Amino acid sequence: MRTLICNIKELILATNTPVNKVQGAEMSSLPIIKDAYVIIDDEIIFDYGPMSKVPESNFDKRISAKDSFVLPTWCDSHTHLIFAATREGEFIDKIQGASYEDIAQKGGGILNSAKKLQETSEELLLESAYNRLIEVQSFGTGAIEIKSGYGLTVDAELKMLRVIQKLKNMTKMPIKASFLGAHALPLKYKKNRAGYIDLIINEMLPRIAAEGLADYIDVFCEKVAFSVAETEKLMKAGAQYGLKPKVHTNQFNCMGGIQACVAHNAISVDHLEVINDDEIACLLKSSTMATLLPSAPFFLNDNYPKARKMIDAGMAVALATDYNPGSTPSGKIPFVLSLACIKMKMLPEEAINAATVNGAYAMELSDKVGSISKGKLANLIITKPMDSLAFMPYAFGTDWIDRVIIAGQV
Ligand code: NIG
Ligand code: FE
Repeated sequence: MRTLICNIKELILATNTPVNKVQGAEMSSLPIIKDAYVIIDDEIIFDYGPMSKVPESNFDKRISAKDSFVLPTWCDSHTHLIFAATREGEFIDKIQGASYEDIAQKGGGILNSAKKLQETSEELLLESAYNRLIEVQSFGTGAIEIKSGYGLTVDAELKMLRVIQKLKNMTKMPIKASFLGAHALPLKYKKNRAGYIDLIINEMLPRIAAEGLADYIDVFCEKVAFSVAETEKLMKAGAQYGLKPKVHTNQFNCMGGIQACVAHNAISVDHLEVINDDEIACLLKSSTMATLLPSAPFFLNDNYPKARKMIDAGMAVALATDYNPGSTPSGKIPFVLSLACIKMKMLPEEAINAATVNGAYAMELSDKVGSISKGKLANLIITKPMDSLAFMPYAFGTDWIDRVIIAGQV
């Protein structure tokens, strides 16, 4: 089936020489074709160009995108989409003065989510996660990474990863799975940290690998969670099963997590609300993507990552949502773009590159998504009529997405 999208005001990120990532000053430029068309052949982008060169042909379907922009769907490279229950109680506690770390230390937070998830059936988890997947698709997401980490027992971690596996079979949206057994230390292991690390390495990882349930290994490397030494041990163990690291680090403290992750060839280091000059220098010399999650400091009233400083230093940054019940109950990339521009001083073009090209890089999906290129998946956003691209992050409360196309299907 051939679909023509015609009269597009501006076609964003259309390129037949797609790059795997954009960094530094390059982040502020976007390939754009004005007054353009795109042809979709079944699931794939078949052709695109200016309207003056649109081919005479019989199309099965025609969509007019007059006065509208067309861009690739978002690549949300960091989410915790599988969870059993929301956590509004802690939201109130935080309003009344408790910090995220206070809540975690009292057995709330991640442990609270883990208890509920352990008690919830795989079927119910799948149903709620699928609903969230449909929700984020309506916000323009067309590729997503999903983590485990609310299981924290062998059975419950496997249950989460099986849910992700099932989701992969229910959608044409590319999905990557990260195993985050080291998200929080279960209460049972409070006096036996090494015992929990051993459980992850000797029992969880071999079974996950045998069933092929994960693409990456993640660790919450932070004072309230796991040390750099523990993170390194887990990255080494993951590597034995072919799982590359994508790691939560530098959310609250600079502890050497970035350097350790770079040394282990991490695909990405995520959060980076705090970062020092040595860590920026280390990332500049690496192939590791810096993934920023500004919805988390928004929700936690915390400091935002210094995106401007990172990009000005020449780094590449990706933007993702961190959708989870504790620090970010939102899977809305358009809001992330607004925060990136308003709170982190990124330009609209930089934010769009970060949420598409660089997000795809952070999931190793650059060959399939992240730009409008011949042969890539036809995962596209058609906007409502708007004057300029900057309207997207500017109008932070407007639903400016008209249609989302996933693998050629509107
Ligand atoms: O990325 N920081 C660690 N993990 C999640 C939050 C988890 C939770 O609070 O449930 C995050 O922000
Ligand atoms: Fe996270």
